[in-house]
Amino acid sequence: MKVKTLLSFAAALCCAAAFSMSAQAQLKNSPMHANLPDNATTKDCLVCHQSYQAVAQKTAKMNPNPHSNHRGEQNCTNCHSVKGKPHLECNDCHTFAIKMKGE
Ligand code: HEC
Ligand code: HEC
Ligand code: HEC
Repeated sequence: MKVKTLLSFAAALCCAAAFSMSAQAQLKNSPMHANLPDNATTKDCLVCHQSYQAVAQKTAKMNPNPHSNHRGEQNCTNCHSVKGKPHLECNDCHTFAIKMKGE
């Protein structure tokens, strides 16, 4: 009985860990972002991603385009997160059916 309880506890722990990994699209999890400082700012992102215009082109098919709108050039980390959960700040005011990976 004791062993069985321990085993199911271990299984629960293992699944909780796996779940939290897949539920968070942390930038840190991808190799190209491994060296980002935790407090990275837009300047750090644009070393590789070039410009707001360049990323807006990548999401040109999205409506609305999260990288080109009346909010102008917000900090990348207002939505993307180096170590935490991403958050589409547009939906602080709107109810767009856009979900960020891991949100
Ligand atoms: C060392 C170079 C580098 C830096 C710095 C960098 N990126 Fe990237 N990033 C890449 C590359 C390469 C890709 C893959 C090709 C692409 O989608 O542009 C990528 C892909 C992405 C993606 C799509 C894939 C994914 O992981 O979801 C997002 C979102 C992203 N970057 C956001 C950011 C943000 C936000 C920052 C700053 C906090 C940042 N990146 C800093 C190189 C970098
Ligand atoms: C602080 C609140 C706020 C935030 C955050 C915000 N918006 Fe808006 N947005 C507004 C207001 C206010 C209007 C104009 C009034 C209206 O739509 O009724 C508007 C209008 C719009 C419109 C045109 C009207 C519509 O609803 O189609 C679009 C598109 C839009 N916003 C996209 C975005 C996107 C994309 C983001 C995130 C990058 C964003 N907004 C973030 C407040 C906000
Ligand atoms: C208003 C929120 C918001 C801001 C601010 C923002 N992004 Fe994004 N970004 C998104 C959303 C939404 C997507 C598409 C869903 C996803 O990838 O999670 C996206 C996707 C991306 C992608 C992948 C595009 C593709 O499909 O290949 C890259 C790269 C990216 N963003 C980089 C950046 C960089 C760099 C900045 C700052 C210059 C930035 N983003 C600012 C919301 C935002």
